[in-house]
Amino acid sequence: MIINNIIRSKPLGFTGLTASGFLAFFLLLSTFAFSQTADDEKNFQQCKACHTIGGGKLVGPDLKGITDRRDEAWLVSFIQNSQQLVQSGDEQAVKVFNENNKIPMPSHSLSDDQVKGILLYIANDGKLAAGEVAAKEENNEPVITEDAAQLLVEMRRDEQRNLIWVLIVMAVLLGISVVDLAFIKVLKAKWIHYIIILSALAIISEVVFVAATGLGRQQYYQPDQPIWFSHQVHAGQNQIDCEYCHFTANESMHAGIPPVATCLNCHNQVKEGKRTGTKEIAKIFEAVKNNKPIEWVKVYNLPDHVYFNHAQHVNVGQLECQACHGEVEKMDQIIQEPDLSMGWCIGCHRTESVQFASNKFYDQYTELHKKLSSGEMPNVTVQNVGGDECAKCHY
Ligand code: HEC
Ligand code: HEC
Ligand code: HEC
Ligand code: HEC
Ligand code: HEC
Ligand code: HEC
Repeated sequence: MIINNIIRSKPLGFTGLTASGFLAFFLLLSTFAFSQTADDEKNFQQCKACHTIGGGKLVGPDLKGITDRRDEAWLVSFIQNSQQLVQSGDEQAVKVFNENNKIPMPSHSLSDDQVKGILLYIANDGKLAAGEVAAKEENNEPVITEDAAQLLVEMRRDEQRNLIWVLIVMAVLLGISVVDLAFIKVLKAKWIHYIIILSALAIISEVVFVAATGLGRQQYYQPDQPIWFSHQVHAGQNQIDCEYCHFTANESMHAGIPPVATCLNCHNQVKEGKRTGTKEIAKIFEAVKNNKPIEWVKVYNLPDHVYFNHAQHVNVGQLECQACHGEVEKMDQIIQEPDLSMGWCIGCHRTESVQFASNKFYDQYTELHKKLSSGEMPNVTVQNVGGDECAKCHY
């Protein structure tokens, strides 16, 4: 309205022109903002190992304000293949290359539009446009509080420690009671002794039973590793995708531990960490020099008589790693969160749905398909398709 009034009151006047200019500018801005998608944020993940937006220099320069400093077409070709540009003698590219100690930036197979999306994301200082944030929240992506996972683990550990204290206190009470009853005889009322002895025995056997059923299991197992490798630094801070390193999880039984070559992809360039300096990263180069694999200690171990398949759960079942391993991206050192008991597997199979409609393998279950489409069953759980049959999990 206001703009209309201005334009009407002064046709062709200076104010009118600037106003419509502003209007066009804001329209342009908003189309930019809306054309930006969460994919841009995702595409930027591959840059994060080497660049920040306003957080200072990492391997490459801080990218804050880069879209103001450089021409868009130049940025697109530099990001797609910087070395080609450097070798062609492009003045600016050579200058940037030299200023960064001649560390080559790897090329990226991104389309022009994908790069432009990333640039928009950088121009927004690494924030998603408002519409995108709302869409993300609607998807109910959990907002996890800092270090919640670690706190939980510590709480559970305290619980275990408390159990041990209960055991010790009960044993001491039992001892005093028996000694007094048989030898010292300070306390005349014998029934008090009997009560103490009986309850102590009951509590001790309860604690021992709880411990015994967990025997052979190692919940909260957290061995020292040969290199101080932090998932919090890699999967958390630098948001490296789990499957970048555990690249067989999607297609085979084992998720696998990455070989040294995977570490070198980045550590050929990143030679120093914020917390351990060069000390721990140097061990990677030592392993390469001695041609010896790094001897990681396995944390999760199922007994040999159990069959477990990652692809089945990650690929077919579409489960997040965190559903079973906890908030790994918050852990410096991996800790075994679930107890890996049979009850744990079956507990989930009773409640978790299978990807029933989309998997041809389940076409044979005509009865279940009928019940599902008639609404008689809200969903088909793993148990419904035989996820609690002994032979599925036991060799
Ligand atoms: C392995 C580390 C690494 C990765 C990953 C990486 N870069 Fe770079 N980047 C560098 C280095 C080092 C330079 C310094 C110049 C050179 O290599 O020629 C650089 C330079 C740049 C420049 C030029 C800066 C300037 O001052 O002109 C831009 C823009 C850039 N990177 C964007 C990106 C984007 C976008 C991504 C992700 C798609 C990315 N980089 C991924 C290491 C990396
Ligand atoms: C349904 C639960 C579940 C899901 C989902 C899951 N895992 Fe596992 N993971 C396990 C169990 C159980 C083991 C122990 C397997 C064994 O000892 O045979 C394990 C073992 C591992 C290991 C040790 C090496 C190996 O392959 O045995 C790694 C690494 C691992 N998982 C990573 C991942 C990653 C990364 C994801 C997501 C892409 C993931 N897991 C998803 C349950 C799960
Ligand atoms: C995709 C890139 C990438 C890969 C792959 C990678 N790292 Fe890193 N790593 C980084 C970055 C980025 C840092 C953070 C440097 C810093 O502290 O600012 C880092 C830091 C470290 C640190 C030092 C942590 C600290 O804060 O002191 C160690 C140790 C380390 N990595 C070991 C490894 C090992 C072992 C592997 C292979 C299993 C590996 N990294 C694979 C990117 C990577
Ligand atoms: C930069 C590479 C890298 C990334 C990214 C990464 N991991 Fe790992 N992961 C490792 C290495 C190396 C080990 C072995 C050392 C250890 O246990 O900490 C490991 C160990 C594990 C283990 C314990 C395996 C066992 O039984 O010994 C689990 C579980 C795991 N990762 C899950 C994940 C999940 C979930 C993510 C994503 C949130 C992830 N990892 C991201 C490199 C990586
Ligand atoms: C967090 C939930 C969850 C946990 C924990 C879990 N599973 Fe599963 N499991 C699933 C889902 C979901 C599927 C179905 C995948 C599909 O076909 O869509 C499945 C399928 C299976 C199947 C195939 C069943 C069939 O009918 O073909 C086996 C075998 C299996 N799981 C073994 C295990 C074992 C062994 C453990 C414990 C070590 C375990 N699972 C723990 C969710 C889980
Ligand atoms: C969804 C997977 C799954 C199914 C289905 C399953 N089990 Fe298990 N079972 C396990 C796991 C995992 C363990 C290892 C638990 C442990 O180490 O405490 C286990 C352990 C056992 C053990 C050894 C107990 C011990 O303390 O070591 C026996 C016996 C057993 N199962 C019998 C059965 C029988 C009988 C059935 C069928 C009624 C069955 N299981 C079905 C996953 C399963």
